[in-house]
Amino acid sequence: MKFTIEYLDTASSTQDVVRQRLEADPSMQEGYVVMAKKQTRGYGRHGRTWESNEGNLYFSILLKPDTKQQNKIGLLALGTGLAVFYTLKPLMEQQDTHIKWPNDILVEGKKLSGILIESLLNKNNMPHAFIVGIGINIKSSPIKEATCLNDLSKKHHSSEEILDQFLKNFKDLYAQWNAGEFDKITAGYRACCIPKGQEISVKLPHKTHEGHYYDIDDHGNLILEKEDGSLASITSGDVYLCD
Ligand code: BTN
Repeated sequence: MKFTIEYLDTASSTQDVVRQRLEADPSMQEGYVVMAKKQTRGYGRHGRTWESNEGNLYFSILLKPDTKQQNKIGLLALGTGLAVFYTLKPLMEQQDTHIKWPNDILVEGKKLSGILIESLLNKNNMPHAFIVGIGINIKSSPIKEATCLNDLSKKHHSSEEILDQFLKNFKDLYAQWNAGEFDKITAGYRACCIPKGQEISVKLPHKTHEGHYYDIDDHGNLILEKEDGSLASITSGDVYLCD
């Protein structure tokens, strides 16, 4: 895949900009990337606000995978988290770093980056494109449950350098995903995710499950071991670590 990068000083949200570019030119190729120095209306999963002051990295990528791949988006979400992990881990000291399902990077329990994947639907309600948005805290941690790279690394890193390295890693992971090499993605993920047995709670729209992290399945769903010992498969929800 080839990337074309558009750099902006400011955007409402880089997700919106990619969406607008595609509306203006529906034949636009995948690999179009929009990066902004700051966002005035950045958002995250479940419609939450993503504070986007200057100094952190905000970007979105347009993907147009083959329709046969589209029931594998859960694994693309994990693979994208892995590409962020491979980008950031070598830049840090020996801190305890994990991917929290599906794809947040946590360092000593604090969030360093987040990923949002939105699908664009056609008239028949089928996804025809995806916008993968990534926020990485480099210079500042917008909330107390977050951390930033400059506090974790000996050197200061630029947004451009991190984006560049991420795109190299993502290219490989996306090629694996497109080639159906899902075992490679799940094996990589299992080596970097929170440890099996970690106490977690999983917030769903109408209830919260308490239990232990068990594994991921072949579709990238979370497998939670509930307190009664039974296993539950979770496709979408918010995971919180319990101490
Ligand atoms: C999350 O953890 O909830 C996902 C956060 C995703 C934030 C990024 S920043 C770049 C792109 N533009 C947005 O408005 N959101 C994503």
